Order: sequence, then structure tokens, then C-alpha cells
Amino acid sequence: AGKASLSNRLLDWYDRHHRELPWRISPSARAAGAVPDPYHIWLSEIMLQQTTVEAVKPYFQRFKERWPHVSDLAGAENDDVMKAWAGLGYYSRARNLKACADHIVAHGGAFPDTESGLLNLPGVGPYTAAAIAAIAFNQPAAVVDGNVERVISRLFAVETPLPVAKVQIRQIVTEILPHDRPGDFAQAMMDLGATICSPKRPRCMLCPVNEYCDALANGDPERFPLRPPK
Ligand code: ADE
Repeated sequence: AGKASLSNRLLDWYDRHHRELPWRISPSARAAGAVPDPYHIWLSEIMLQQTTVEAVKPYFQRFKERWPHVSDLAGAENDDVMKAWAGLGYYSRARNLKACADHIVAHGGAFPDTESGLLNLPGVGPYTAAAIAAIAFNQPAAVVDGNVERVISRLFAVETPLPVAKVQIRQIVTEILPHDRPGDFAQAMMDLGATICSPKRPRCMLCPVNEYCDALANGDPERFPLRPPK
């Protein structure tokens, strides 16, 4: 079971079973040359930081309709942005949102297209910078959230407990990510973690990469990721 085939299997599955999300470009549209709007990817990733996909959907739609471009958000009243955010929680995100939009507009209106450039933006940490670089700009960034930690620690039976295992997990992701489709690969890993490789009772019989899963071969995928002893 080679590394290229694991990624190819995952991408084939994503082509057929990807979730339709309002900020997402379908893999077929992407293959036909459509590109995601970095503003939409940024906005969705900030909203998704501490909030579920289902809760984010209507907020994302409203923000997108009310402030279609990052310059519209930069021109908005802070109060209006805070009111539109009400219900999503973690309000520092909304303050950073406005600060980041202001920053982008003050620097020419375009989002940076590299991980390091994105890291300079207010409210954008390592995870979010990697996610925007991969999803919006198709750069080979290692996008590792909780879902991806679980998927990788199971596929490779990572016996090191979190959070120490994070370094190893990032390394594995960097090695297996397909350089022709890093954005779809990142989203495929998230979808697999959200729909099949769940924390409890993973649905391994439906998993497109179950043949590659060391944890399943060893008989107890739920044991991963390991947590430090209390
Ligand atoms: N969670 C965080 N970012 C996400 C994305 N782009 N798609 C689905 N779930 C996510």
C-alpha cells in the first residue's frame, strides 16, 4: 500500500462524496478551472474555528450577502459586524475579522497567498494560515485540525499521545499530500474525519482508505488518537 495510492483513494472518494458547503468549490468545478474566493475561505475558516459546520452555514451566507467583498467588510461599522456575529460566540473573532479586513484593504486589497504571509494577518494562526493557503491558493500546506489528527493517528497507528504527536502528524501529512490537489486533499481529510472516521464508533466498513489503516488492521481504531495519562 503506497503513499500515492492512499491519497488517490481519498481524492477519488472526495470527488464522489464531498460535502456541499456554501464556501466550497466542488472538485469538478475546481478541476475545470474555478478558483475559490480567498475572502470566502478566510471568512469560513475564522467562523469554523470554534463553531460547527451546521451552525456556521447561515452566518456565512448572511455575511457573504451583506458584505460581498473584503472591502465591504472593511467599510462596515464595527457594531454592525458584531451584531451580525451575535450567536456565534468567541467575539474576539469578530473584532479580529474587522481588523483583518481593514489590514487587507490598507495593503492593496488582496489576501497574501503564502502561509507565512497569511500568518501576519490579525486573527490568523498556524492552522488557519495553512487552511487558507491550501484551500484558497492550492499550496502544499499541511492542514491539521482535530479531525485530521484523528484520521492520521489511526491510519498510521501513531502511538505517541497528543499533543506531542502533533509534530509527527504534521510530518506524515506533509509526506502524503498530493501536490497537484492540496486544497481538495485538506478538505477530503476533514470530510473523512467528520463523516466516517468519527471519534466514537468509526464507520470503517465505509472508509475509502480502510485497506491502508494500521489502527483498523490492529483491531481498535477508537483507541487513537492517544491522550496523555491523567
Ligand atoms: N472545518 C474547518 N474548516 C473546514 C472546511 N474547510 N471544511 C469543512 N470543515 C471545516
